[in-house]
Amino acid sequence: MAPAPLKRLHVCSKCGFQSPKWFGRCPSCGDWNALVEGKASSSGKSRPAVPAHAYAEIQGSGLQRITTGNSEVDRTLGGGIVPGSLILLGGEPGIGKSTLLLQVAESLSNQGRPVLYVAGEESVEQIRLRGDRLEVQGKRLYLLGETCLERILEQIESLRPSVVIVDSIQTMFSEATESIPGSVSQIRDCAAELLVFAKREGVPVLLIGHITKDGALAGPKALEHIVDVVLYFEGTRHRNEKIVRAVKNRFGPSNELGIFEMSSRGLRCVENPSRLFLSQRSERVSGSAVTCTMEGSRPVLVEVQALVSQSGFSAARRMTDGVDANRVALLLAMLEKRLGLDLLGSDVYINVAGGFSLTEPGVDLAIVAAIVSSLGNRPLPESTVVFGEVGLAGEIRAVSFPRNRVKEASMMGFRNLILPANSLPLNEPVRGVSLQGVATVGECLEAIALPGTGP
Ligand code: TYD
Ligand code: MG
Repeated sequence: MAPAPLKRLHVCSKCGFQSPKWFGRCPSCGDWNALVEGKASSSGKSRPAVPAHAYAEIQGSGLQRITTGNSEVDRTLGGGIVPGSLILLGGEPGIGKSTLLLQVAESLSNQGRPVLYVAGEESVEQIRLRGDRLEVQGKRLYLLGETCLERILEQIESLRPSVVIVDSIQTMFSEATESIPGSVSQIRDCAAELLVFAKREGVPVLLIGHITKDGALAGPKALEHIVDVVLYFEGTRHRNEKIVRAVKNRFGPSNELGIFEMSSRGLRCVENPSRLFLSQRSERVSGSAVTCTMEGSRPVLVEVQALVSQSGFSAARRMTDGVDANRVALLLAMLEKRLGLDLLGSDVYINVAGGFSLTEPGVDLAIVAAIVSSLGNRPLPESTVVFGEVGLAGEIRAVSFPRNRVKEASMMGFRNLILPANSLPLNEPVRGVSLQGVATVGECLEAIALPGTGP
């Protein structure tokens, strides 16, 4: 059979959009002059066919994980690295990706596992300097300054490492792909090639990928569906607290968090995040409410702050940091309609202390409490934690793992808990705390002695 003619494609170097036709402006992301000629993604084109296996005869590997020895990294990965997995660690430049993976490399090599660290971005001397700062001994750690994928695979062949780290995937290029290094098709083809290697040899590969806030650098987003695990550093590099979240995990729970603090000697695991996130809180100020959120399997106490002020503009401003703006708009509408609060002419600012991003519905009630507290300029009672999902009718809905949240609050010294009535009774009591179940937002405001008429 005659070979199929090579399909010409135009690929957007920004977002990865593909089209046989050329456009001056990418129809997908709208970027000008971003479409370049390239080949259709070539991964898989010359690999031998694999026979089908009978389901019943396939041996589950039992997922023997490699523990990295770094408690927060292991937690984020759901217990450790699964052999043969491809893991992507993304985050903005300077946030700590290279630091974290060099620390992981050190701790793996201390267990006697040979680790290959491929440095495409910095020289091996630069990595060594960082290593000195981190007091890396690197007994079985190998550094390779190389960006050509074929040559890296050759080195892997001769070195036979247990774990491979690629810093960063944006700098890698494959000779088999025509497009320029850093383009989406290069990044995707290199990742696909590394995936084949990882699965074939059972060697895990960790990829570092840069992400900028506006997504200007192509790459990691296009890899999310190829890799097994996606970890992202949350927030910006300006904070000392660093949060790594698993947004995808084929081998474990997603949404698990690892929390670190950047020190002069690298990233330190934070065993008690509640203490860290509440450390700078001032007691008894209006507009502040402490809540307990479940991040993966872990309860974390955080402070939600609200500032409600008379707007000087015809359209009131609504700004949020750390919570979804649409969620806040919805809660504000609910407060207007159900409790008759007048918020139309007020600017509302919501902030989550410590740079944490809250995505879980259990924090609704704290947002509401903070808003009403700021509006009336009255602080919440001392030693109080509120959590619960708020519905459009002002009803409070049950949340997951209420007891874990209550326990965490009690451990951190809080005594009064306002929680959904539907989440009570707890399946096992927690001593030393007073629990107050509320069924509506009105009941909640009454419980924390804030003005508001019940729905
Ligand atoms: P880095 O890991 O190089 O970031 P990335 O690989 O994500 O681009 O470094 C992150 C920042 O951390 C850098 O600005 C320097 C700082 N840093 C420390 O504060 N302490 C340390 O021990 C190290 C190694 C870095
Ligand atoms: Mg780096």
